[in-house]
Amino acid sequence: MTARATTDASTLRLIIPTESGNWRMGKTLAPQRVAVVTGGNRGLGLELVRRLAELGMRVVLACRVAEHGRAAIERLGGLADRVAVRQLDVSDADSIAWLVTWLDRRLGRCDVLVNNASVLLDDDVAAASVDLELVRRTLETNLFGMWQLVQAVTPLMRAGGYGRIVNISCGLAFIPRGASAYRVSKSAVNALTRVFADELAGDGILVNACCPVVSVDQPDGRGLADPSMSADTPVWLATLPDDGPTGDFWRSRSPIDS
Ligand SMILES: NC(=O)c1ccc[n+]([C@@H]2O[C@H](COP(=O)([O-])OP(=O)(O)OC[C@H]3O[C@@H](n4cnc5c(N)ncnc54)[C@H](OP(=O)(O)O)[C@@H]3O)[C@@H](O)[C@H]2O)c1
Repeated sequence: MTARATTDASTLRLIIPTESGNWRMGKTLAPQRVAVVTGGNRGLGLELVRRLAELGMRVVLACRVAEHGRAAIERLGGLADRVAVRQLDVSDADSIAWLVTWLDRRLGRCDVLVNNASVLLDDDVAAASVDLELVRRTLETNLFGMWQLVQAVTPLMRAGGYGRIVNISCGLAFIPRGASAYRVSKSAVNALTRVFADELAGDGILVNACCPVVSVDQPDGRGLADPSMSADTPVWLATLPDDGPTGDFWRSRSPIDS
């Protein structure tokens, strides 16, 4: 493989492919945004990888099974050159540490973090009867995993004086019953978004949560609409200007109550 230069609107950086197909940075000619998308191998996550790469960012597709991520980027055509696949299980502290160490050593930065990875394990189970072990597993991924990843990444963002953190949540009105663990986890995500937004406000880091657009075709409103439509608000939040909002919960680029 040969080294090559690449450009987008504001950047120029030498990219050196590695034997594994992942890129690493050579001599930096100008800064370039680096974005991490968790659960990037499918669904909304993969669409977000695509959209951020289209904007010229270098995107780290982080997913539980690296092989699934490598298969996913084959669907990105030429944009795959801008994407690196890294293994990440957000419920595994070691996995988070390895990813952030790699970001620090290889790229020296992380500008955008999209916390998209999520599980819904208790569909149609009442809070009164749900197995609490299942609740713990839900919180491990949807809340604590995201929390720990933000803790690990913010030093890199602080060092760069820039950060955009987008937490993919859920408008709970779309889930009229059941899914108590999932609903509690997403309510907590919205609360944590506000807490981090307050803490990081002085560091150039904007933290927001959003609900992807949900299809109205299904009786209970579940199921994402067209992924490109669902990706619009997260991408907008990932690219906010420095004086953009922070600490809010959004759908279709409008703030909503959490
Ligand atoms: N779908 C909807 O109707 C809807 C509605 C509102 C909000 N949302 C939110 O939108 C986001 C994306 O939804 P989606 O429907 O695209 O999700 P999805 O298809 O169910 O994909 C979930 C992703 O999260 C990953 N993941 C799960 N546990 C993980 C862990 N411990 N570590 C790392 N990755 C993990 C999955 O990896 P694997 O492939 O390895 O399982 C997968 O890539 C989620 O945050 C969801 O809560 C969805």
